[in-house]
Amino acid sequence: METSWLKELRRGKKPDSGKLVEHLQRVHRENPGFTERYSTNCVDAAGMNTYQWLAEVIEKEDHKEILDLACGSGPLLSHCHDKFGGGLSLTGVDMSQDELNLAEKRLPDTATLVQAKAQNLEFIGDEEIDVVLCHWALTLMDPVGPVLEEVSRVLKPGGTFAAIVDGDKSSSQEYEDVSSLIYSWVGKAHENYGKYDMGDARIRRKETLKKLVGRYFKEEEVIIQQKLFSIFGTPAKLAKNVANFFYASYALPENMRPSLLDDLRDYFKSNEKILNQEFRMPINRLVVRG
Ligand SMILES: C[S@@+](CC[C@H](N)C(=O)[O-])C[C@H]1O[C@@H](n2cnc3c(N)ncnc32)[C@H](O)[C@@H]1O
Repeated sequence: METSWLKELRRGKKPDSGKLVEHLQRVHRENPGFTERYSTNCVDAAGMNTYQWLAEVIEKEDHKEILDLACGSGPLLSHCHDKFGGGLSLTGVDMSQDELNLAEKRLPDTATLVQAKAQNLEFIGDEEIDVVLCHWALTLMDPVGPVLEEVSRVLKPGGTFAAIVDGDKSSSQEYEDVSSLIYSWVGKAHENYGKYDMGDARIRRKETLKKLVGRYFKEEEVIIQQKLFSIFGTPAKLAKNVANFFYASYALPENMRPSLLDDLRDYFKSNEKILNQEFRMPINRLVVRG
């Protein structure tokens, strides 16, 4: 894969947000639905996946208008529809038409899907939405300030904003190990990969996330909860699934991919700590309530 975002990184420069958008759209054009394939099978100790954890914030009696920001292939909206039935009014926004095409196939006709950037939700009026959800995407949004401004504008007074974002890497050794392994391979093909975060780095740390969100939601309660979520499988299966979750691995040239998968498989085979053939990821749920 080659994009202007990768080129700029190789030049040692921080790519601008336009280049990030182009890069993300390219990854999603070539691999629509990849987040869902991983996340659906990534569960907590009670067997709940992160879509289910996020949708827990919806209260059947009080909430009707639901907005999924960066809805991707639509797994979260689909879960909301299955859980709460037709009583909800569902809207999904994503900048990738390829992801929205998948969402359209699975969601009821009553759901509204809009191709747009989360930084500009002009098609939604002020104070129209009861719950804004965002699963694994806030981390990618740059600039993120206008996104939080838009969320605050479209939410009804007393509404809820909740997001699934990266947790603290240091709470899972295998997550740290696997990230470094993947980044070291991608670094062989694209110098400086990982030097600059995709999106805004403040989203990835509990303290900075709380401070940032608090600036846009001054009156609301801001809570960040952390949990570990796991996927299970043989070393070869874990290697494939885990590689497919990381954006970095999509930047790897095809001919290097088998070597990355071999290294990951060997890591899972040799790591005695991965007793149950389990890979754990630290995940945070941000909940902002009015
Ligand atoms: C990791 S995927 C998550 C998709 C879906 N929420 C899920 O969890 O299955 C990130 C999604 O965010 C979308 N995205 C990233 N930045 C965006 C932005 N600024 N505005 C709208 N969509 C964005 C991408 O197109 C992609 O579909």
